[in-house]
Amino acid sequence: LARQDLAGETVLVTAGPTREEIDPVRFVSNHSSGKMGYAIARAARRRGAKVILVSGPVCLESPYGVETVRVKTAVEMRDAVMSRVAEAGIVVKSAAVADYRPVKRAGSKIKKSDGALSIELEKNPDILAEIGQSKQGAIVVGFAAETDDLLANAGKKLEKKNLDMIVANDIGEPGAGFDLDTNIVRILYRDGRVEEPGIMSKDNLADFIIDRILLLKSRSSD
Ligand code: C5P
Repeated sequence: LARQDLAGETVLVTAGPTREEIDPVRFVSNHSSGKMGYAIARAARRRGAKVILVSGPVCLESPYGVETVRVKTAVEMRDAVMSRVAEAGIVVKSAAVADYRPVKRAGSKIKKSDGALSIELEKNPDILAEIGQSKQGAIVVGFAAETDDLLANAGKKLEKKNLDMIVANDIGEPGAGFDLDTNIVRILYRDGRVEEPGIMSKDNLADFIIDRILLLKSRSSD
């Protein structure tokens, strides 16, 4: 049995992409596989936490013993997260929420015509920023996937969304990012520290992230 160092904790994890429908056939989304978030949910459960996993559409099985709430759109994800977040002392937001959604969803399939087609998009709510503004003592962890200026962009998100830590991955690097079983990340903290654990399996990285969350928790209760 793993060390039950999360016993008594409730951990809310989000994972996977969101899907924003254009019409009954098509959608706007991204390459997120959900593997990182599911690994975190499994690890947290193994270490004794009560885990709520809010998942976008992915091809992964609900982890044993984890309450999995399946959603499609960013708005559904926000509603699921906001209705449960007060219970959680730890929030890990690894979902790749679509930043934009079509302004209108067509009720029937959009037919092809000769000219170009434009689809107007509007901003989705930023779930993590909302949590960051309203958190009361919870440790809130974000993720950032970037192709450019990784540390600068991740640092800005850490500040702007009022997070305790952010896990940044350079999706341009081989061995990092979508649909792989490994990841290469940098972890940024409020005090300016940056940790670089090197290439790891997503399962080992999940435990590493939880170790760091527990360290932050023990410091904040000193
Ligand atoms: O998309 P962005 O790079 O800002 O994502 C950084 C973090 O914010 C991720 O943890 C992601 O889950 C979260 N996020 C969110 N709602 C959004 C966009 C991002 O919760 N609409």
